[in-house]
Amino acid sequence: MIIETIFAILMTFTVALWIMVPAYTANAGAVPFGGGTPIDFGKCTKNGCRYLGDGKTWHGIIGGIVVGILFGLLQMFFVQTFHWDWLPQHTIITITTLATGALLGDVVKSFFKRRAGRERGEKWPIADIYDLVVGSLAILAIFAWQWMTTNVTIWIFVAILIWTPLLHRGANIIGYLIGIKQVPW
Ligand code: CTP
Ligand code: MG
Repeated sequence: MIIETIFAILMTFTVALWIMVPAYTANAGAVPFGGGTPIDFGKCTKNGCRYLGDGKTWHGIIGGIVVGILFGLLQMFFVQTFHWDWLPQHTIITITTLATGALLGDVVKSFFKRRAGRERGEKWPIADIYDLVVGSLAILAIFAWQWMTTNVTIWIFVAILIWTPLLHRGANIIGYLIGIKQVPW
């Protein structure tokens, strides 16, 4: 009984991570590719600067999406080659929507973060962490509703909510230490 429960929990966390790889890697991929022209082209709203800020760049969003899709393709390759049939089967649609959604969520977050008067890179708890989850699952739901309802069960969703802050923290500390992130969050 205990063994079965532990196995079920481990399985849930593994599957949750597997589903979210394109989103997590897209989000992390934006950091090394970031820089250059900001998405808002430096423009300000009438009542204050900026629409998004210098932390959201074209290189970052496009580079990140490409990284997420490449990792997703790698996952599809492994599933095919080694017949990992027990894992959710990603498709071109699911990896593309998860990667794109993660970074769109990040951009939308920054828009509201600026409106809330928080500077680029300033901490904004909850939103800074879960923006990619909301974005990726929202876009996934739009383009692959069937796939999402089959694979993202309530417990998988709970596991995603647990994985995200852990990986976020870990990745940001690594990014900070190797000098591609200005702040360790
Ligand atoms: N980045 C980018 N383009 C994106 C997302 C991220 O260039 N679309 C890069 C930027 O260099 C950014 C870094 O990745 O500074 C870290 O991303 P993030 O934490 O999302 O940005 P912040 O600098 O914290 O900005 P914000 O306050 O708007 O979240
Ligand atoms: Mg940030």
